[in-house]
Amino acid sequence: MTNTISPQYLGALDQGTTSTRFMVFARAGNVVASAQKEHRQIYPNPGWVEHDPLEILRNTHFVIAEAMDDAGLKPVEIASVGITNQRETTVVWDRQTGAPIYNAIVWQDTRVADAVALLVKDGGQDRFRKQTGLPLSTYFSGLKIAWILDHVEGARGRAEKGELLFGNIDAFLLWNLTGGAHGGIHATDVTNAGRTQLMNLDTLAWDAELLSALNVPAAMLPEIRSSSEHYGDLSTTRLKGTPVCAMLGDQHAALVGQTCFEPGELKNTYGTGCFLLMNTGTEKVESTSGLLTTLGYKFGKAAPVYALEGSIAVTGSLVQWLRDNLGLIGKSEDIEALAMTVPDNGGVFFVPAFSGLYAPWWRDSARGTICGLTRYANKGHIARAVLESTALQTRDVVEAMESDSGIALKQLRTDGGMVVNETLMQFQADILNVPVVRPKMRETTALGAAYAAGLACGFYKDTTDLVQNWAIDKTWNPALDETARERHYAKWKKAITRSFDWED
Ligand code: G3P
Repeated sequence: MTNTISPQYLGALDQGTTSTRFMVFARAGNVVASAQKEHRQIYPNPGWVEHDPLEILRNTHFVIAEAMDDAGLKPVEIASVGITNQRETTVVWDRQTGAPIYNAIVWQDTRVADAVALLVKDGGQDRFRKQTGLPLSTYFSGLKIAWILDHVEGARGRAEKGELLFGNIDAFLLWNLTGGAHGGIHATDVTNAGRTQLMNLDTLAWDAELLSALNVPAAMLPEIRSSSEHYGDLSTTRLKGTPVCAMLGDQHAALVGQTCFEPGELKNTYGTGCFLLMNTGTEKVESTSGLLTTLGYKFGKAAPVYALEGSIAVTGSLVQWLRDNLGLIGKSEDIEALAMTVPDNGGVFFVPAFSGLYAPWWRDSARGTICGLTRYANKGHIARAVLESTALQTRDVVEAMESDSGIALKQLRTDGGMVVNETLMQFQADILNVPVVRPKMRETTALGAAYAAGLACGFYKDTTDLVQNWAIDKTWNPALDETARERHYAKWKKAITRSFDWED
């Protein structure tokens, strides 16, 4: 791990739901290089979402090379790399050839709804909450693995013999980027493993009872390691020999990038979905309000830090749907201009339950609903309702978070692609009635992966080095009176119930 030139930068590979990005950061957290490439979203049936893992792998090689070349960087200048990823998305591949036996089943995919219903019948939706912090839902990886094993001929037998490997995207990339033709390190970190519903939150190990209940063979699972340690060295990319010193799920990386290291600190990331995570320290907080208990991060040998999470499946992806499926806008950014053509939502509310509803509802059978339409409504009102749905869903999880933690929200730290949208940020402050803060550095997911890698390779001394990098770019203060705010929110609550039980 020692280079003759002292490396001045950290790399971060951010493999997200819609694109793959490689970013290089300097010590102060500023970006020195970046490249990004989108991949195909594959929708074979209603409710199904797949990715091609080999396309993602190709894009990974491409963005690393492009970012390094564009900035004229040499591998020796990169101290280490962190990998962060869309969580839960499930890949099963052949240990000998590296070939995936099926497309990646994406976290948003609802095909395992029947399997969920069967398990719920026999013990309730929260039967694994104690061990995993998670309710039964189509969201997590365990049942997706079982689906692949039961639908690809011969797969279950081969998995039992250890001929097939499972990984979320982090493990799939690590295996491919650290090995030759026959693969490299087969490992994942606690934050990703915790989202399979197969890891025990207390022991941080695969749990035999869960493996048997979800019917997943232990032989195919990666080793579970911390989020910040030397995993191995890259062997197949432009960064040959560069150590991989972090792996963590993207939302956990954003928590680190936002430097939420104290209990009670929280962030909301506005991406494909919205994911609000609150650091709860080294103690797990059990949710009684529909949130997830999850790992925040685990830095090397230090005690694991837990979090409460409110996951919202569809926010930014609703804007993409408006662009791609309805053609109402040409580019995602155009939504703000369209929303600004009207002064308010004209009574229209859009519940984007495309993957059912996640937190705090956990209803697989909900489906998308537009309420309050009249002959008056136009595309501006739809655009406004789309933006508002992001902020209103966030209020649902903030209320759950306040009730579980007993802490009243004083300020919301935001990041992710949608925070450039001023109309959304102002409405978020209005509907929550707290200031909404955007940091100078908005790419906190990649930054968090770089930080976690930097802590493991000695680039940073400790988290105090990171906290001093965080700075505010802009704050939006609430400006809506209480009556209007609560009337609006009550209408939203009514709209939410209209989306329930559509698939039952
Ligand atoms: O749990 C899913 C989440 O990790 C996806 O995040 O940013 O890729 O939409 P993102």
